[in-house]
Amino acid sequence: MPRHLFVTTALPYANGNFHIGHIMEYIQADIWVRFQRMQGHAVDFVCADDTHGAPIMIAAEKAGKTPQQFVADIAAGRKPYLDGFHISFDNWHSTDAPENHALARQIYCDLRDIPESEGGSLIARKTIEQFFDPAKNMFLPDRFIKGECPKCHAKDQYGDNCEVCGAVYAPTDLIDPVSVLSGVRPELKSSEHFFFKLSDPRCVAFLQNWTQDGRLQPEVANKVKEWFSVRTNPDGSTSEGLGDWDISRDAPYFGIEIPDAPGKYFYVWLDAPIGYLASLKNLLDKRGQDYAAYMAQPDLEQYHFIGKDIVTFHTLFWPALLHFSGRKVPNKVFVHGFLTVNNGEKMSKSRGTGLDPLKYLSLGMNPEWLRYYLAAKLSARNEDIDFNADDFMARVNSDLIGKFVNIASRAAGFVQKHFNGQLSGAALWDSFKNTDGSESVQLPCMNNALMAADEIASCYDNREFSRGLRKVMELADGFNHYWDLNKPWELARGEDKEKLHVVCSVAIEGFRLLSLYLKPVLPKLAEQVEAFLNIPPMQWSDSRNRLGGHTIGTYAHLMQRVTPEQLDALFDPPAPIEIKLIPGGEAIAPTISIDDFVKIDLRIAKIVNCEAVEGSVKLLRLTLDVGEGRMRNVFSGIASMYKPEDLVGQLTVLVANLAPRKMKFGVSEGMVLAASHADEKAEPGIYILNPWPGAQPGMRIH
Ligand code: 2FM
Ligand code: ZN
Repeated sequence: MPRHLFVTTALPYANGNFHIGHIMEYIQADIWVRFQRMQGHAVDFVCADDTHGAPIMIAAEKAGKTPQQFVADIAAGRKPYLDGFHISFDNWHSTDAPENHALARQIYCDLRDIPESEGGSLIARKTIEQFFDPAKNMFLPDRFIKGECPKCHAKDQYGDNCEVCGAVYAPTDLIDPVSVLSGVRPELKSSEHFFFKLSDPRCVAFLQNWTQDGRLQPEVANKVKEWFSVRTNPDGSTSEGLGDWDISRDAPYFGIEIPDAPGKYFYVWLDAPIGYLASLKNLLDKRGQDYAAYMAQPDLEQYHFIGKDIVTFHTLFWPALLHFSGRKVPNKVFVHGFLTVNNGEKMSKSRGTGLDPLKYLSLGMNPEWLRYYLAAKLSARNEDIDFNADDFMARVNSDLIGKFVNIASRAAGFVQKHFNGQLSGAALWDSFKNTDGSESVQLPCMNNALMAADEIASCYDNREFSRGLRKVMELADGFNHYWDLNKPWELARGEDKEKLHVVCSVAIEGFRLLSLYLKPVLPKLAEQVEAFLNIPPMQWSDSRNRLGGHTIGTYAHLMQRVTPEQLDALFDPPAPIEIKLIPGGEAIAPTISIDDFVKIDLRIAKIVNCEAVEGSVKLLRLTLDVGEGRMRNVFSGIASMYKPEDLVGQLTVLVANLAPRKMKFGVSEGMVLAASHADEKAEPGIYILNPWPGAQPGMRIH
């Protein structure tokens, strides 16, 4: 029976590009989703940008943008990552979209208006005192207050905890507090806040059951259990049981206004998970499907993939909000640990900073290597995993290529050359059957591979990817052993062509099965395999079919090995550019062909905005219109020569197909052409190119 699954990953904050931790979560969820789809289940897999809150509002102001513009620019940069790593979301939306505003307000009203007969409202109002920045005219989140630690007297500590002695306290305990935003001393001011009554006996009873009924990973359920007895207060003291949850913030705030409460907004964490539903609703609207009917399906299953840092929100607040507003609760929440890079080794400036996903792609590194490597390390447990460069190279080159891909590359040639691409009849493989006629195939490798379908399926279903891949590699060992034992290269020189035919056919059939088992992890490779074998897209049930007698296509190289140079480049800082000087300037570079030149896509770009980059004396941030219906963000080292306002409205030339480059200040989506001598700091400086009037943004330069 096909199941109906609604699956999400955590919504990333829209104040920065993805880091490798995001990509790991998306890959984990994507593998699981692709597996379910291969089972014939209907999966809707969605995500969205988490857009609201004070930090994003403040970052937007700093960037000189409205928050809406700011988050839209971040959203515009998501696609290269998601496409690049083959993440198969059905929809990507935003928590600032109308669907989310409407849903959040509705859920709040449903909780507020619970009739007395059902226990009454779960929303309460309380007046609280909070630090207020009189210069900025706003209440300050703890992270925006700094001062001296009341315990160890370290200076410059945040309002919630001391990074020197580890003390936890309330911002009001800080000595000489200052607002990080304005530098002025904050004042205490009272304001009415809205609370979700998590301490209400109804909530406690519901959550005690919901969190302990087997739907959470055991280690997660155990952690959550502790929160029902003790909790830590903002000032470091402890209280008994669940506390009410402050769900409102005062204007100015980038968020969703609370119904019937002007100037009050939902705290970002109230509307963030509702964004899961908003993204789903947006997807269904686009398909012309009814959201209410969809959610009312009795067999609908709802799953959230999240990191271990946001468990409270997803196992207490979120199910309670849903349940008491009369909505479906998640079936499961899948919690994963963090990803460290090269043993969590602190990345120094000179060694680069972690594993940059876009840099990985721009170096031409295969995204499926990373998918495979991460899958080989992931289990269902909430534990950290480490990306280790040497381990990565070993797993990709010896396992993925050495054991798996090689089976096809070795067998395909024989089948093509000696048998015109046709596999022997599967009945012939049966000549290897037990002589007593029993069903079991005498070939242990084939028999094992056929028998493993259910075991591997259950590994995927239970998110035990590491165990599943170990099994697949064990099967690959079996086929390689069979191959070496039968020495087809010798059979090819001898008389027994039928045996050669069987051995090669078995190898190809084995390769098909392994590809099928790896398809959730390696979806693009699986597509290449389907083309090579001349078969329709593989479903899990195809593990029961046989390819006997089938004519396969021609083998094309399936996958490169990873090289040490690529890994060095991935982790090393960009190499300094070597320049040979001729008097007064640079030597002419070696000759290239016209084919080399046309690879560079040069476009007319209009500079629609230009601003200084805080923290850099060299760079200007350009917002460029290249006629694509979206803006590009490009950094250019021309700040010594131009005032930002002089460039706005000018045309210039952009290298439009340069791989995006992540810089300290953001991602640069191309490079603006500028002329200088080798030492651009020396006289006469650096000059941006400026086309003749009449050129239009988007025109290609030939
Ligand atoms: O921790 C985070 O990155 C949050 N933006 C996750 C939100 S998940 C969901 F609730 F929206
Ligand atoms: Zn301290």
